[in-house]
Amino acid sequence: MDLRKGLLALRFVGLRMALRAVRAAWARDRWERPWRRGTPAPWRGIGPLRAACPFPGGMRFSGEEVELEIRFLAPDGIQITWAPGRCSPPYARVQEVLEEAPVTVGETPDGWRLASPAVQVEVDRSGGLRFRDREGRIWREEAPPERAGPAWRHRVRLRPEEALYGLGERAAPLNRRGRIYRMWNRDPGGSYGPDADPLYLGLPVWLSLHEAGGYLVFYENPFESVFDLGATDPTAAQVTVTDGALRYVLFPGPPDHALRRYTALTGRPPLPPRWALGFHQSRWSYESAEEVRAVVRGFQAHDLPLHAIHLDIDSMDGYRVFTVDRRRFPDLPGLVRELEGQGVRTVMILDPGVKVDPSYPIYRDGLRRGAFCRLPNGAVYRGLVWPGWCAFPDFTDPEVRAWWGEQYRPLVEMGVAGFWHDMNEPTVFVAWGEPTFPRTVRHALEGQGGDHREAHNVYGLLMNRAAWEALRALRPDRRPFLLSRSGWVGLARYAWHWTGDVESTWAALRRTIAIVLGLGLSGIPYTGSDIGGFSGAPSAELFVRWFQAAAFMPFFRNHAAKGTPRREPWAFGEPALSIVRSFLRLRVRLLPYLYTLAWEAAQTGHPLVRPLFWLDPADRALWEVEDAFLLGPAVLVAPVTAPGARSRPVRLPRGIWYDFWTDRRFPGPGTIAAEAPLERLPVFVRAGSVLPMAAEEGLEVHLYAPVDGDGEGWIYTDAGEGFGPFRLERWAVTPAPGRLHVRRAVTGRLPEDGGPVRLWLHGFQATRAHVDGAVLAVHGSFAMLPSFQEAILEGNFNPD
Ligand code: GLC
Repeated sequence: MDLRKGLLALRFVGLRMALRAVRAAWARDRWERPWRRGTPAPWRGIGPLRAACPFPGGMRFSGEEVELEIRFLAPDGIQITWAPGRCSPPYARVQEVLEEAPVTVGETPDGWRLASPAVQVEVDRSGGLRFRDREGRIWREEAPPERAGPAWRHRVRLRPEEALYGLGERAAPLNRRGRIYRMWNRDPGGSYGPDADPLYLGLPVWLSLHEAGGYLVFYENPFESVFDLGATDPTAAQVTVTDGALRYVLFPGPPDHALRRYTALTGRPPLPPRWALGFHQSRWSYESAEEVRAVVRGFQAHDLPLHAIHLDIDSMDGYRVFTVDRRRFPDLPGLVRELEGQGVRTVMILDPGVKVDPSYPIYRDGLRRGAFCRLPNGAVYRGLVWPGWCAFPDFTDPEVRAWWGEQYRPLVEMGVAGFWHDMNEPTVFVAWGEPTFPRTVRHALEGQGGDHREAHNVYGLLMNRAAWEALRALRPDRRPFLLSRSGWVGLARYAWHWTGDVESTWAALRRTIAIVLGLGLSGIPYTGSDIGGFSGAPSAELFVRWFQAAAFMPFFRNHAAKGTPRREPWAFGEPALSIVRSFLRLRVRLLPYLYTLAWEAAQTGHPLVRPLFWLDPADRALWEVEDAFLLGPAVLVAPVTAPGARSRPVRLPRGIWYDFWTDRRFPGPGTIAAEAPLERLPVFVRAGSVLPMAAEEGLEVHLYAPVDGDGEGWIYTDAGEGFGPFRLERWAVTPAPGRLHVRRAVTGRLPEDGGPVRLWLHGFQATRAHVDGAVLAVHGSFAMLPSFQEAILEGNFNPD
């Protein structure tokens, strides 16, 4: 281990723990000895495929030593399975098949062809595969796979222009091409910066964009794997999985379509409670009820909105998970109630490690039930985490998930609103080597039985599943809020995610944008970073710039490591405090829009934060943009990520863009120089957008006049919690000379509040409004109209 990292880790864990970590690493190496033994097998070809046997929806092929199954999960969803090698439990999926697909099969001179109404697959006798669209254009081409012992690898051709995105949480450039990525969830050790790999949440899924379209691929195999995306050979992506069947699912199409299909298979994020979209304040750690109260009072005294406060590990009794330190928090239920009365929810951290302590009921109970992971000799495996030696629940066992879920009950009864799952890669402290369980540790894997090589990457996912299922049962009228550091494909069904222990540097702020975008493109939409970075001491300027960017990201939390200078917004004095206040208020104003995007994510799997190319995948100039992002369909955010910068270039996609602060219009595509004084970051709104925003008096609808073409927008409203009725408004805006025609279609059972529609017009000055037959006088850019289905606004478009 490199010395700097070692010392950093030591700072967090202390000397005694460091010495034990030597013992732990040594024991790990001993347990892994059988796994390490022997020389690796050489790579071998698979030989020709011979017999072919069609079945409804697909076809099976066999070779000398391998079998191939091609199954259509939908007309545009193809599952490829190369065996031998077992298929792990389908933890990622919510469905086995999406839709029935009529498939025709036939022989060709070189092999076989399968076709659905959307896709053709050509199978060469050698095992090479080609995928074509309806027009016959190739969108993916694979060389025959190879085998080495239980491992598989295969190569996928990359076109010269092809860009690749996704792979989950990667501190790499947004376009992943040209690098090697390891698929093995890992705590980088208390701090990481750009280019660290792997991180906490790797996902074996990539999105490809090229001139003949693009596609999404999901490798459904949780074993450790390596994705070499054109690093060794610039013309090919090479995927190596160390064991199991080589199974992958393909969805062709542009990113929005492919993600919709992929999340139909792997699940979409349910609507979060509305408060979760607000601001969260955290620190490792607020050490007592008094300190928590003082922080909340600070927010009130400085007139700063606050929605949640997080309690880190020092709130526990000796780091025993699910306990509360009664000396520091003598009346947690009282504190939680008091805070909730002030509109502040309490979120508590939970780590999977259960302290080995015979006087601790959860340990005793877990032991009695056989809930903990075991070594090959049958002994309970012990790893080191904050409490010292711990045992670890085997979340791959459904009974253990149910048992673990029960443990939430007391905290839920105390009113704790949400849970923050940390260290669930799973992470243990070791002096060298992999900071996780020995690979020979046994797991239930839903009764299939297996070892940690197979269970490692899904461990965090299943911890969240256990919690989610429990919370739904324990508090059926509330939406769970879970935040997780690790997970696998499907995590979004249960939890949000933050980007972990990122360093406090400008480079890390810059890279955070790409990390969040990459997660969204991998199906994890609710993410954000520790504002200011976790592990260091940001300057006031870095903190302000990080705060501004974070205000537009789904998970908006201020958090910092132990021993770092205080990070509450007032710690930086002026002008930082006033700037932070203005962005907190802006966040509150944006909540109706964010909430509508949350509804959209639940329907489609589309991330809230999107890369610019989302709007126009054909515009190659957008493929590499990673210093700006879209928040939903309407807003473009260009964070400032360099010290001293007071302006920055912004690449605008096709369309007309309004400067959010001044309403000045800019045409895209093109690059403009945008002003960025310290108190602002460049933000633009796409012409034709309908942006719902909160104001003191209630909802305001901001209509950004379309210039050519129509505009549209959605507004989703409900109680913000629970599962009651909702109201959905679809706004359609059509421009004509001297007028804007606005149609508003309302569905859902939540009645309107009876108040007027408060409309702000951007790029248009109204003089009169015709509303459902009546004529009303309007002056300028604000109109208060009775609830309407159809309104015609007469007036003038602003000149450019
Ligand atoms: C890990 C987490 C961090 C937390 C700390 C103590 O480093 O990533 O957010 O504060 O553990 O629980």
